[in-house]
Amino acid sequence: MEPFSQSSPLFESRLRSLRKIHQGKVRDIYDVDSQHLLIVTTDRLSAFDVVLPDPIAFKGEVLTQISLFWFGKTRHIVPNHLSDLKVEDVILDPAERAQLAGRTMVVKKLTPLPVEAVARGYLIGSGYKDYQLHGSVCGIALPAGLQVAERLPEPIFTPASKAPAGQHDENIDFEAIVSLIGRDYATRIRRITLEIYRFAADHARARNIIIADTKFEFGLDKAGNMLLIDEVLTPDSSRFWPMASYKPGSSPPSFDKQFVRDYLESLHWNKKPPAPHLPPDIQARTSDNYRAALKLLTA
Ligand SMILES: Nc1ncnc2c1ncn2[C@@H]1O[C@H](COP(=O)(O)OP(=O)(O)O)[C@@H](O)[C@H]1O
Ligand SMILES: [Mg+2]
Repeated sequence: MEPFSQSSPLFESRLRSLRKIHQGKVRDIYDVDSQHLLIVTTDRLSAFDVVLPDPIAFKGEVLTQISLFWFGKTRHIVPNHLSDLKVEDVILDPAERAQLAGRTMVVKKLTPLPVEAVARGYLIGSGYKDYQLHGSVCGIALPAGLQVAERLPEPIFTPASKAPAGQHDENIDFEAIVSLIGRDYATRIRRITLEIYRFAADHARARNIIIADTKFEFGLDKAGNMLLIDEVLTPDSSRFWPMASYKPGSSPPSFDKQFVRDYLESLHWNKKPPAPHLPPDIQARTSDNYRAALKLLTA
């Protein structure tokens, strides 16, 4: 594992040599050429889908290193968007490179499919809410009497629509995915999502971590091939729970953002922008938790 870079936390990247074409909650995306994008994972932290004003030290590097780890480990299941180009190939100015170290990927430019491909092995979050209301999640009927955080009889595919910025994703059933992207891609996404989830959950379980759920994104190349894109099995796209404190019937603390969420809840903030600042100790503990997740998962 590469040591962490010395550069200061990065809230927003500013490259002169490439054009920024998109700024997500966490990532800044630059156009490289007709076939490639440069993705910079900043240290921005979002909570309740709102970006907080303080960057979290090392977060961008942790998310990037975890994603690279999983892209490598899952290549036998699905091809992914990583390209052969290195950052040094597309950013020639050493000063520009300095802010990118450890947090940047040059990827294939693909057309993202408008689906959040979620796999759940445990009943939590919006899955638990839907279950309480309907006894099912995304149209998948579940046994009666399941408790919050309980392990499901088997992992399920619970897709969501990709909400526009500022809105929350919405759980939808499999047939809704079929009408969005066609039955062939929908069926393949479901199969691949569950296969990666099972593979990763086994890997994590051997390290005393539960992956309760996770979200993938897929994109298409010009020939219609489907590739895994975005980020993979990071603390931002997944719920990781320490096995030691897991107990069905109560909502386990999340690995990374629990201090942040608890703090924000204590403020009675309305969860609309602008978000409040975090005290330095909450920032520091959150940074520690991200680094701990990297170590535990990839050691
Ligand atoms: N290889 C790729 N080609 C095209 N778009 C991509 C690729 N990989 C990721 N993306 C897109 O880049 C964006 C990542 O930025 P992020 O900050 O995570 O956004 P969001 O706020 O939507 O989560 C997402 O919209 C994702 O769909
Ligand atoms: Mg994202």
